[in-house]
Amino acid sequence: MALAIMDSTSRYGLVSRALHWGMALLFVWQFSGAGARVLLEDTAIESFLWGTHRNVGVLLMTLVVLRALWALANASRRPPAVSVMAKLGHLALYGLMIAVPTIALIRQYGSGRPLEVFGVPLMSGGGERVEWMINLGGLLHGELGWALLVLVLGHIGMAVLHRRLTGHSLMTRMA
Ligand code: HEM
Ligand code: HEM
Repeated sequence: MALAIMDSTSRYGLVSRALHWGMALLFVWQFSGAGARVLLEDTAIESFLWGTHRNVGVLLMTLVVLRALWALANASRRPPAVSVMAKLGHLALYGLMIAVPTIALIRQYGSGRPLEVFGVPLMSGGGERVEWMINLGGLLHGELGWALLVLVLGHIGMAVLHRRLTGHSLMTRMA
């Protein structure tokens, strides 16, 4: 059966899958960069992986907004959540996927420094420093970023566990 563009109650459609797996790859890249920043400071690997952090972060932010809108538009026909916990887990993933880059952009704005994303000027900079914006980011961006990684690892673990316990794979819905 050809893969439909929209979701159906038995499987996610083309757009949902492309967003899920495309963003998963980008998150692998993003967290590799963040990991390199902590573990491989001042190495060539760090500058290679970390150098794209803002660009890829803004790209992920754009994609998650589109993904959330797409999820809402397909809400009535998506595969039903396997449990309340799965539903809450997915909601928490969305919450953090939106909060982490939003907080970074607030900090960036508050720093008064310009921001270019893939060569496109997004913030012109030159404004005054806004302390609460900088402090909010300093306090929460990295921490919530790592929390998101933990949640993603839990998410992957639950997908594997579900298959082990029930004998049927959720991958047919998403892969
Ligand atoms: C190897 C990595 C991954 C695997 C094996 C995986 C597996 C799956 C599977 C099987 C589903 C369908 C579950 C269901 O129908 O109840 C799903 C849905 C979902 N996954 Fe993943 N996933 C991975 C990575 C990620 C990442 C990195 C994120 C986000 C940061 C993510 C966020 C979501 C969300 C939000 C859903 C709900 C459907 C949607 O709105 O897209 N996943 N995943
Ligand atoms: C979903 C997207 C993003 C994720 C998952 C993410 C994740 C992270 C993580 C885990 C750290 C902590 C690294 C450490 O402990 O040293 C970090 C730091 C940082 N991120 Fe992001 N980030 C994202 C988007 C962005 C965006 C859009 C910007 C800027 C426009 C940004 C700017 C920074 C900066 C400047 C730091 C270093 C200062 C700090 O630790 O807060 N990030 N990010």
